[in-house]
Amino acid sequence: MPPISVIPGDGIGPEVIGEALTTVDELGIGLEFDVLDHVNADRFLRTGVALSDEDFQRVGASCAALLGAVGDPRVRSSEYARGVLLRLRFDLDLYVNYRPVKLLHDRLSPLRDATRRAVDLVIVRENTEGLYTGVGGTLRPHSPHEVAIDAEVNTHLGVSRVIDFAFSAARTGVCMVDKSNAVRSGGQLWQRCWRSAVAEHPDVATSHLYVDAAAMKLISDPTAFDVIVTNNSYGDILSDLTAELAGGLGTAASANINDTTGFGLYEPVHGSAPDIAGKGIANPIGAILTSALLIERLGHHREAAAVRDAVSAAVAAGRCTPDVGGELTTKDSGAAIRAELV
Ligand code: NAD
Ligand code: IPM
Ligand code: MN
Repeated sequence: MPPISVIPGDGIGPEVIGEALTTVDELGIGLEFDVLDHVNADRFLRTGVALSDEDFQRVGASCAALLGAVGDPRVRSSEYARGVLLRLRFDLDLYVNYRPVKLLHDRLSPLRDATRRAVDLVIVRENTEGLYTGVGGTLRPHSPHEVAIDAEVNTHLGVSRVIDFAFSAARTGVCMVDKSNAVRSGGQLWQRCWRSAVAEHPDVATSHLYVDAAAMKLISDPTAFDVIVTNNSYGDILSDLTAELAGGLGTAASANINDTTGFGLYEPVHGSAPDIAGKGIANPIGAILTSALLIERLGHHREAAAVRDAVSAAVAAGRCTPDVGGELTTKDSGAAIRAELV
């Protein structure tokens, strides 16, 4: 099997990915890593290269990819994130962004009502279209008459395949989230694809919410959701919200996948967190649970479950970083999780 390509990236990316790699190593399942640690903001600022064609081919030749985070306060344009993360998502056609959410421990819930805390849902975010394609442009830049247009791209193929994936991931139900009461063309397309998928799955409980109401309902009763399918932007925003419901942004895992090729790029939901980078306090749980998603997809189901159990045990014992109520460093938190592996 080819190695797993690894892009630690920037800020806390390398700190948390280090713990994820050590944890996967400890499982003894014979996976190898091809680390591209030159893909970072320093190189982009120095050379203007985000991800070279050679880097892209290395990732494409791997069995799966693991990414920490890309982003640096010194980089002002979107070209860097577009050049690394969005290039990988788009050019490898990783059309599903799968973001599972399950409350890690009761004490981490921001919800005051205990009956609302049994959060166990998945955000299925469309990952190759929407506002992220770069279609658009600027007229008369830097003038009072500047016009800036970012077109929201929705294709029948893109919308229908992500909705199909959502149904394949459903345990009890699927809720489609859009803003079709205000956004005309894309709204109609999502609604049509949705209605035809609903008709094909009479056995699955289905519902529809506008995104503003969905944000409200995720706080008032997150237990009402199983799988949420939505577009690129709403999925981005709602998945930070749900990460917080489940234990905090530092604990949330995600996978960018193409369900046909089977290739996946795995990354924690959080970013490079420049405010805490270098302090040794970043929570490695998001990265470690992300590596569990990765090895699960490669067929190591028992080991993935063991990693999840070890994370829960370490958190329950308070052996974790400050953001989740502990006092450990990133490295000690990783070690505490590995100590729970049986
Ligand atoms: P962020 O996710 O980096 O941080 C938001 C807040 O959460 C910060 O207060 C941070 O300290 C905290 N946080 C995040 N991860 C944490 C962890 N593991 N442990 C403890 N606390 C954690 O979001 P931001 O500040 O908006 O973005 C910073 C940079 O990261 C930007 O350049 C952004 O574009 C980039 N970004 C990259 C990715 C990615 O590569 N997948 C995702 C999101 C943001
Ligand atoms: C994420 C991030 C990215 C996104 C940024 C860094 C482009 O926020 O993975 O959630 O919006 O997809
Ligand atoms: Mn995001």
